[in-house]
Amino acid sequence: NPKQLTIAIDGFSSTGKSTLAKDLAVALGLNYIDSGAMYRAVALYALENNLVHDGQISPELVKKLDDIHIAFQFNPTNKKSETFLNGRNVEDKIRSTAVSAVVSEVAAIPEVRRHLVYLQKNMGKTGGVVMDGRDIGSVVFPDAELKIFMTADEDVRVLRRWKELKDKGYNTTIEEVRENLNHRDHLDTTRADSPLIKTEDAIVLDNSNLSQQEQLELAISWANKAKAIVEESQKVQC
Ligand code: CDP
Ligand code: CDP
Repeated sequence: NPKQLTIAIDGFSSTGKSTLAKDLAVALGLNYIDSGAMYRAVALYALENNLVHDGQISPELVKKLDDIHIAFQFNPTNKKSETFLNGRNVEDKIRSTAVSAVVSEVAAIPEVRRHLVYLQKNMGKTGGVVMDGRDIGSVVFPDAELKIFMTADEDVRVLRRWKELKDKGYNTTIEEVRENLNHRDHLDTTRADSPLIKTEDAIVLDNSNLSQQEQLELAISWANKAKAIVEESQKVQC
């Protein structure tokens, strides 16, 4: 069996990672896994189980990690990815501002990261997966055949996320969205354990002025090159 591609997508918040990851998954027949949704699900669990006080995460959360079961369902037809927490569909709940407000604090806890990274590595064991997050190219899949680091101007990202939340019926202001994105980007890039970084072998994709279709075409051309390199190296091994 030829090895299937592993694609790692990292970047700042609201840069279009999951949009590109889902489009790539459908175009290339790969599975899509939203690693951020896993951190969001753990944050939701903490909120619902009274393990957050004044924005501080209780150390008790670490003891509960084995009680937190996360599953995904990706539907290539409508490109919808659904997240399940202990059997309950929490896809909408994990996008709430309450979860966004504490998720980066939860994601900075080393035991939480170790637990989720273990699960993520397992999900990608056989290849054929595109995963987006903050430490996918650096920690989860350091050997991924294609690594993309996404970025876009702050104003562009803020407006995209604000519009997305408004369309979903959340009532938030542009300034609130800006504050949350900056807060999370700051924590995510400065935390001690696996901060967001661009690895040397990642290709930068700045989509400030790119449409969804344009960014997809670019990434597909990179994926095709990566695939050709894999196939060439398999020939050499045969
Ligand atoms: O979609 P958005 O860019 O807003 O964020 P997300 O991908 O849903 O991730 C939510 C948060 O989870 C991030 O701000 C990080 O704090 C954390 N995260 C992480 O630490 N490592 C990952 N691989 C993915 C997410
Ligand atoms: O996953 P991440 O938080 O990085 O971003 P996302 O949820 O994929 O994208 C945030 C918003 O930007 C979505 O509403 C996308 O439709 C939009 N977007 C865009 O307008 N143009 C792009 N080139 C990429 C994403």
